[in-house]
Amino acid sequence: MPRRVRSPVERYHDRVAGVYDGIYAGNAYWEAIFAVTWRNIVRHLPKDLSSRCLDVGCGSGRWGLRLIRAGYSVDFLDISQKMLDQAANRLAAMGKTSIRLDCLNTPSPAPPGPADPRISRIWHADMDNLSALPDASHDFIVGQGDPLNCTEKPRQAFKDLARLLRPGGVLLLSVDNRLQGIDHFLGKGDVEGLEKFLRTGRTQWIADDPNERYPITMFTPGQIRGMCRERKLELVSLIGKTVLPLRRFKDLLDDPAKRNALLRLEESLHGEEALLANASHLEFAARKPD
Ligand SMILES: C[S@@+](CC[C@H](N)C(=O)[O-])C[C@H]1O[C@@H](n2cnc3c(N)ncnc32)[C@H](O)[C@@H]1O
Repeated sequence: MPRRVRSPVERYHDRVAGVYDGIYAGNAYWEAIFAVTWRNIVRHLPKDLSSRCLDVGCGSGRWGLRLIRAGYSVDFLDISQKMLDQAANRLAAMGKTSIRLDCLNTPSPAPPGPADPRISRIWHADMDNLSALPDASHDFIVGQGDPLNCTEKPRQAFKDLARLLRPGGVLLLSVDNRLQGIDHFLGKGDVEGLEKFLRTGRTQWIADDPNERYPITMFTPGQIRGMCRERKLELVSLIGKTVLPLRRFKDLLDDPAKRNALLRLEESLHGEEALLANASHLEFAARKPD
């Protein structure tokens, strides 16, 4: 059988998987982002610890592993085998059992069978094709670090994620904010490009190596509202991450007192509609009606 050709997004994440966590470790700015992210996740978690969670675009497993430590059963899904290897190693180091399910190299995998709360399923899958995952299988789905951006058909991927939710379940996704892409086109004097970008949200992830660039879609708050309406999900929260220019003033985050005060301010403002345009990322939680 001919070898499957990896997509650019898969190749890129396979290459960086071994160093991925190190990129963020010990950086005050990223630590602050992670603190805000975790507190926002906690706000939307199911009350019942027997709920089953899914970390999509899980990377090395940062958020899914935290959910496991919080007491939930968690499945993991990513397009990058190497990222999944990192997550699997960390699960094993925690003494947790997992099984690997491969939808990318096995185009028609056997149905996964009943879920065991003690065993994490690790899906090697593309969010552009989630057909192997059963309907209404998860109570909480988290996708941090913008995996929906990287899909070829984000509306279809969103539809599939909504399908995986059980009634009453919540989908929490971060996405790139389209309103933050405007300067890039204006800086190049590319008004035609700007018009197209604002219409479609399509652009490229700018990697140093041109072979590692891959297409992405950036989203507007209005579009997020539209996708939720279309899938009959209730939008329970939409925040900017971050609405304060914390990256520009990241040195202030080295001082614990200033950091805590700034994060308090950030979290008191991050749902303000007028400030969403400031944020490089939008993060939303959408609930499937009971
Ligand atoms: C920026 S990383 C974020 C990883 C992790 N969620 C975190 O917050 O640390 C994005 C992840 O999404 C995965 N990804 C990108 N496109 C995907 C797709 N179409 N299907 C599944 N995973 C995808 C990448 O392989 C990568 O691991």
